[in-house]
Amino acid sequence: RNLIEPFDFSTEELTRIFDLADEIIRRPGEWLDSCRGKLLATLFYEPSTRTRFSFEAAMLRLGGQVIGFDDPGTSSTAKGETLADTIRTIACYADIAVIRHPREGTARLASKYTEMPVINAGDGGHQHPTQTLLDLYSIKKTQGRLDNLHVAMVGDLKYGRTVHSLVIALCNYNTTFHLVSPMELKLPSSVKMHIKEKNLTYHQYTDMEEVISQVDVLYMTRIQRERFSDPLEYERIKNAYILQHHMIQDTRENFRVLHPLPRVNEIDIKVDESTKAYYFEQALNGVYVRQALMALILGVK
Ligand code: CP
Repeated sequence: RNLIEPFDFSTEELTRIFDLADEIIRRPGEWLDSCRGKLLATLFYEPSTRTRFSFEAAMLRLGGQVIGFDDPGTSSTAKGETLADTIRTIACYADIAVIRHPREGTARLASKYTEMPVINAGDGGHQHPTQTLLDLYSIKKTQGRLDNLHVAMVGDLKYGRTVHSLVIALCNYNTTFHLVSPMELKLPSSVKMHIKEKNLTYHQYTDMEEVISQVDVLYMTRIQRERFSDPLEYERIKNAYILQHHMIQDTRENFRVLHPLPRVNEIDIKVDESTKAYYFEQALNGVYVRQALMALILGVK
């Protein structure tokens, strides 16, 4: 069983993962041995703090163990080994693998060479489905539901893979989308297609302040410097959106600011003091939902 794109799991399965995450939070002691004898392999061809550490923490908290690399230069990739051979080899050692790669489609490709479950931890500017699990879980926790919410996505909607995956997943919950980006970084048509297929509504803006008072969730993202081919273009756009504390004063009571992190400068640190800032709790939720996901995939619960 793989998780490569957000629609690889049904809404019923997502609900099961969120219920498991709740159970793990309630009774962490009951899970300490559930993955004993299981081995997670982490293959990170791109930098990461949250995704890699939370996957590793999740497996260790389930009683399993972890092997892997965070720099492909220290693996035989540096000697010219193909992805196919690498994943076939890792499958001889591990029970489940998590892979992040700068090239779109790499996790899908890797999954074709092995029976071992493969989880996509981000493939280029394409998808980041486990981030979506924790984003949905965080929305559910803060809003009490997933249905019928107004969600604003702000920043780099073109290259932001967390946005692509979250939009696709939220299409199952009757969401109204407010898409805020510079003209050059609009949400790709291939992602908007999912919104249209479900007959849902989206509005596009370039001004963030227009939407803040209208929405339940403000999902901030950074401008993705590493995806720009022209560094001058990045320099021109990089300060397009900076959320300041005063901007969230007159928001709905249930309003929350989410961000997949890492943050560069798009949320001023004074916002962190607000009870409406939820991004560090969101990162913590990543451990619980990844514990639940791996427990489900490995069939230990
Ligand atoms: N949100 C996220 O994917 O963070 P990392 O790049 O630190 O893993």
